[in-house]
Amino acid sequence: MSSHIRRIAICTGGGDAPGLNAVIRSVVISASRRGWECYGIREGFNGILFHERYPEGGVFRLTPEKVRGIGHLGGTILGTTNKGNPLQFPVKMPDGTVREVDRSDEILEFFAKQELDALVSVGGDGSLTIANALHQKGLRVVGVPKTIDNDLDKTFTTFGFDTAVDFASACLDRLHSTAESHQRVMVVEVMGRYAGWIALHAGIAGGAHAVLIPEIPFDLDKVVAKILRRDSLGRMYSLIVVAEGAGPAGGNRAVQAPAEIGHAERLGGIGERTAKALQERTDKDTRLVVLGHLLRGGSPTSFDRVAAMRFGTAAVRALSEGHSGVMVALAFPNVNYVPLADVAGRMKGVPLDSDILQTGRDMGICFGD
Ligand code: F6P
Repeated sequence: MSSHIRRIAICTGGGDAPGLNAVIRSVVISASRRGWECYGIREGFNGILFHERYPEGGVFRLTPEKVRGIGHLGGTILGTTNKGNPLQFPVKMPDGTVREVDRSDEILEFFAKQELDALVSVGGDGSLTIANALHQKGLRVVGVPKTIDNDLDKTFTTFGFDTAVDFASACLDRLHSTAESHQRVMVVEVMGRYAGWIALHAGIAGGAHAVLIPEIPFDLDKVVAKILRRDSLGRMYSLIVVAEGAGPAGGNRAVQAPAEIGHAERLGGIGERTAKALQERTDKDTRLVVLGHLLRGGSPTSFDRVAAMRFGTAAVRALSEGHSGVMVALAFPNVNYVPLADVAGRMKGVPLDSDILQTGRDMGICFGD
């Protein structure tokens, strides 16, 4: 593939994560230094496909001037969506029903018409699966791994994860004192989808006494025993971190809204269930805190800013070296490129034999098993 590039586009898709703006800024600055023009697509691919919302076209020029001062800001100046998958775009049919239609060819046509030579797609599993499909259809694409959940394979970490963990840990720090003062059980539900990375890291950093993650179906008896044992030792309070995707052995995970056309299932509610059951079974005053979308907001940590800039500049380098169909990834100590095909559709959960999990166990954290 010729490495000659003049104009590139960048899009951010899926749930937002702290560090998106730092990626955008680094792509624009490093691409401009090569003499390339950059364009931002609004709201995932909706800027191209959602004509009703963007009658004038949802793609605009990004210059170094336009991205000045955004590196420390949360969110994304491009906007994002987890509803506009071009491979399964929800389209209203004449009979009023909604059907998923593959509109990916329209993306390629748009790139050809606008003489855009390549795409930097910043996203999680969904966006990178789309990026891989577009690459297979002939578009020049490089992916950048984003998600607070850290559930993408083939990269040590995604950007956004560190900020989410940092915030959740700070919340746990605060909950210790109020829980101890009132001799309460505090249950803290955190996001993470089907992976327990946020719960595990925040639980260890924040000194939780039990951490329940999707990778380890839990037995609530074990958590009750942990709380009562602490009480018997005079430690009259306990902090329990529950990942939204965790579930009891032999039971179901808690779903707030089932999957529907154009949208994956929405998790949530396991914290409430767990808090209620713990209150009943320990007879201790129990309170619930759901951190939810607070984990996605705010300014990225310095680790996430640096990761975002390493990824953004590496994406531009990858394109200038002639790569396509790859994701930039962190493989300490360096950033490398991995095939999108090895990432798309794969989830990285917490390995049961990982030292991070063992760290938690050796610190006396109960995992409900
Ligand atoms: O993938 C990021 C994430 O925040 C998950 O942790 C969570 O399950 C999901 O997105 C929530 O999505 P929404 O913003 O659609 O509620």
